Amino acid sequence: MSKKMWAGRFEKATDKEVNDYNSSLPFDCRMYRQDIRGSVAHSQMLARQGVISKKDADDIKSGMDSILSDIESGRLSFNSDAEDIHMFIEEELTNRIGDAGKRLHTGRSRNDQVALDQRLYMCDEALEIEDMLRRLISVLKGIAMDNLETYMPGYTHLQRAQPVTYAHYLCAYIEMFRRDLDRIDEAYRRADVSPLGSGALAGTTYPLDRESVASDLGMNGVTLNSLDGVADRDFAIEFSAAISIFMMHISRMSEEIILYASQEFKYYELDDAYSTGSSMMPQKKNPDVAELTRGKTGRVYGDLVSLLVIMKGLPLTYNKDMQEVQESLFDVIDTVKAVLPPFTGMIKTMTIRKDNMEAAALGGFTNATDLADYLVKKGLPFRETHAVSGKLVHYCIENGTTLEKLTIEQLREFSPAFEDDVYDAISLKTCVEGRSLIGGPSPDTVKRYLDNI
Ligand code: ARG
Repeated sequence: MSKKMWAGRFEKATDKEVNDYNSSLPFDCRMYRQDIRGSVAHSQMLARQGVISKKDADDIKSGMDSILSDIESGRLSFNSDAEDIHMFIEEELTNRIGDAGKRLHTGRSRNDQVALDQRLYMCDEALEIEDMLRRLISVLKGIAMDNLETYMPGYTHLQRAQPVTYAHYLCAYIEMFRRDLDRIDEAYRRADVSPLGSGALAGTTYPLDRESVASDLGMNGVTLNSLDGVADRDFAIEFSAAISIFMMHISRMSEEIILYASQEFKYYELDDAYSTGSSMMPQKKNPDVAELTRGKTGRVYGDLVSLLVIMKGLPLTYNKDMQEVQESLFDVIDTVKAVLPPFTGMIKTMTIRKDNMEAAALGGFTNATDLADYLVKKGLPFRETHAVSGKLVHYCIENGTTLEKLTIEQLREFSPAFEDDVYDAISLKTCVEGRSLIGGPSPDTVKRYLDNI
């Protein structure tokens, strides 16, 4: 095993078992780009501040460039007993450029280094996730635009309630996903500050220029307390919470896809390319993508809970427990990135059965409220009209018919206020078009909403 950089005060080498247990290289190696970026910015600043020579900083830069390209081309592998990515790269740098490599870590600790790497990594990934989510929203928008007048039942208690349109339904998810995007971006914004200069915990006496490192890294500022800078991982927790909320939304949508694609609903026909068959039952066409998405949601919640529990009760500042944050955070990132593209593909390719949606909206007495409202407009009090409408629904159920199919004579037996204009008043079109307040399902309202987002 190579000699530890901190071996000075030790008489014995680390036990192999302990080294393996302690090492984060197998998972933190994915942050090599951010680690190199951070080290280059730090060493350039050290030279600007006269802490190391310009020549050393240039050697560090070219050494780092060669390490980066060797990792990317596969010439350099992470097959090493180094304790973590930070040690791995520093050792490799020193092997390549000699003494200048040993000057890199001046005024820095792995404590502020790892906090920086995680922030940079998470922010890079957040941007990719945001793009994927924007793509899903734009696919939903396109489908909504094509279905402004596609009627379907809206549900409460999973019982048919009132008619809405498919566009209006999709826009509900668009709103949720837009808030998710906002939350992810907020988490990004708060994470996008540099902890470098916090040192191990108490800052450093070197005349570092923290702000210039942050701005070289494209970050929005610096952390304002050195203890906090190395001790907290709330940025990872906040981001994972935002992703968890997004997963909760996409899981609800998945559940509805599973329901609506069932033979009982038949609102959706999933594309063959986005569904799977059964090894035993030849007739099956299964909504695996939606089910897996629902399942992955539980996994992300697990990661979020792990993060919260790892961090609770830790005394300030750095503790090795915090190394465990990385795998949960990475799993959140990997999972949501695995979820979004196939989910978006499934949505984009599935066909909707407008006829079944509309038949369900008609068959479920979803216009019973409008029937009661119609009588209110004729001067009756709502509590009475609610009862009349309820009795009519009961009558229809007993006689296997629907409200709009009753004759005017039949209707008048329940209230003399009914006139011929009732049929128009309770048509799906009227019910939906009349609901034109902001946020309502009327086609004009939904179109205006879609045009404005
Ligand atoms: N691999 C470590 C981690 O991820 C880096 C920080 C090590 N710091 C220390 N004081 N041992 O947490």
